[in-house]
Amino acid sequence: MTGHYPVMLPEVLEALSPSDGGVYVDGTFGAGGYSAAILDAADCRVIAIDRDPAARSRAAAMQEKYGDRLVFLCGCFGDVAQLLEGGGIGKVDGFVLDLGVSSFQIDEAERGFSFRFDGPLDMRMNSESEEPTAADIVNNYDEKKLANIIYLYGDERRSRQIARRIVERRAERVFETTEDLADVVRDVVPKSHKDKIDPATRTFQALRIAVNDELGELERALISSEDVLNDGGRLVVVSFHSLEDGMVKRYLREKSGSEPRGSRYAPVAVDVGDVVFKLRGKKAVKPSDVECKENSRSRSARLRAATRVVAS
Ligand SMILES: C[S@@+](CC[C@H](N)C(=O)[O-])C[C@H]1O[C@@H](n2cnc3c(N)ncnc32)[C@H](O)[C@@H]1O
Repeated sequence: MTGHYPVMLPEVLEALSPSDGGVYVDGTFGAGGYSAAILDAADCRVIAIDRDPAARSRAAAMQEKYGDRLVFLCGCFGDVAQLLEGGGIGKVDGFVLDLGVSSFQIDEAERGFSFRFDGPLDMRMNSESEEPTAADIVNNYDEKKLANIIYLYGDERRSRQIARRIVERRAERVFETTEDLADVVRDVVPKSHKDKIDPATRTFQALRIAVNDELGELERALISSEDVLNDGGRLVVVSFHSLEDGMVKRYLREKSGSEPRGSRYAPVAVDVGDVVFKLRGKKAVKPSDVECKENSRSRSARLRAATRVVAS
């Protein structure tokens, strides 16, 4: 596979443990790095999901090698239960998620994910959808709502100043391009020598999360996971943001009976109910030093996994 580095691949395979005859859902097909590795690891089937229609042709190319062992379904992993039902697929033995966007998406200026290239301020993972774009959000949301998004999803301390500048600037001229937005943010946020990232990084991340309702998607996928997995099936999630990782951590703790019941901080609105998962390790697994050197995006990755167990 080319174009996208499959993050924590050895650790994902170990946690998922594909076996002959099994059926595995790769909920974030992307460039197909995980799907190919699962199909190579065992004589199994992979149901690959991606909300980006551009992934379809990559899956079709892989089907030349794997035939009907690989099935591609275009849709959101939050709808995994409905997608599987619609495809006539029963319960599965594994469900893996590698959250966020792929290098293909980031590197294509037209998609509007990156401040490194000038392009339309879009950021929708499914650019054929009718959902609002990042430009719709920055041109229409009120100042407070913008500040909240940038603060909460971007961890940006200067969120209020950025939101104020966005509102001032759009009164003169609406935002159309990634450069329009990056310039405004760079005016407000000084370049830090400490973290070495572009000052626009956090704001762009926040908008991407909002545009694609990424946390809502994760919540829906977690809630569905207990229904779609066979007993003994594995749930494996690789996340890149503390909000995502915190959500996975607390969900799995609740569902494995390791969290005090009814914690008022539990972010996922679920009926706690029975114990249906067994944690695979209490702590998140981090990428190896070698991987972090090879691929800087891996540095923030955290993997959590659990096994579906008979409800008790
Ligand atoms: C980080 S990439 C996955 C890369 C993949 N593991 C590989 O090895 O090639 C994330 C992919 O998931 C897709 N994606 C993100 N959120 C999604 C969602 N809620 N439903 C379906 N696909 C989603 C994106 O479109 C992107 O293609």
